[in-house]
Amino acid sequence: MRDALGAVQSVLVLGGGSDIAAATCELLVGERCRTVVLAGRSPEKLTPVADRLRSAGATDVDVVAFDAAAPDTHRTVVDEVFDQHGDIDVVLVAFGVLGDQAMFDDDPAAAAEAATTNYVGAVSSGLAVAERLRRQGHGTLVVMSSVAGERARADNFVYGSTKAGLDAFAQGLGDALAGSGASVMVVRPGFVRTAMTEHMDDGPMATTAEAVAADIVAGLKRGAHTVWSPAKLRPVFAVLRHLPRPIWRRVAATRS
Ligand SMILES: NC(=O)c1ccc[n+]([C@@H]2O[C@H](COP(=O)([O-])OP(=O)(O)OC[C@H]3O[C@@H](n4cnc5c(N)ncnc54)[C@H](OP(=O)(O)O)[C@@H]3O)[C@@H](O)[C@H]2O)c1
Repeated sequence: MRDALGAVQSVLVLGGGSDIAAATCELLVGERCRTVVLAGRSPEKLTPVADRLRSAGATDVDVVAFDAAAPDTHRTVVDEVFDQHGDIDVVLVAFGVLGDQAMFDDDPAAAAEAATTNYVGAVSSGLAVAERLRRQGHGTLVVMSSVAGERARADNFVYGSTKAGLDAFAQGLGDALAGSGASVMVVRPGFVRTAMTEHMDDGPMATTAEAVAADIVAGLKRGAHTVWSPAKLRPVFAVLRHLPRPIWRRVAATRS
């Protein structure tokens, strides 16, 4: 349960090795969060982040195995974390793969794998988390969507479509949870300099994991249902979403 001042005291990260998630946890620990559970497909890779969070003041840091692409395991993993650590204030769905559109064009099975991780994995883990948050009567599921889901671009439409599906799922789940005490916050970053994008040139309005983390924490404080990061992407995409297709194609092509 959040403390008397509303500070988050416990967080579970699904996709515990994410740079954006690590930066978010560091901020939360700096603001009195004491329990952090990092869930990832290679738990041994999460040790450095776990050590950093302990040094920053977290007293209960755990690392557990979690594969977003194995939906049939999600209920068990989520239940075990909640059973072992008690109430969880924030669950951050941070896993995701960007992939490469040209590679997906050549290998449809790889595209389906990315869709399974980004979308199917979020549906199964999100529903398992929602059930526990509903039962405890509080808590926020934070879902890492993307502006790529606002309007699919030809050069990464597989990734964009997974984020569109994920975003719609998260919005619907948030509405379904209304009145339960639990909530969903959808985060829509633009281009963020992280491990996911290290092979790419900066996109427009490129930002950092630390800046997105600050937007996430600010969103949690004000009880936001949607966070754009940076915030100016909201009016930009209000326009881009409605551009006529031929104009959108030209605009999107200048981004590639
Ligand atoms: N960076 C951006 O520009 C950007 C923009 C908008 C939205 N986002 C979204 O923000 C979230 C965090 O991304 P990030 O930028 O922090 O990238 P990141 O550092 O590459 O983090 C992505 C994480 O997803 C994990 N992951 C991938 N497949 C998984 C699976 N099957 N099971 C469990 N974990 C898995 C990766 O774990 P491994 O270490 O095991 O690979 C990695 O820790 C993602 O959902 C991403 O789509 C990122």
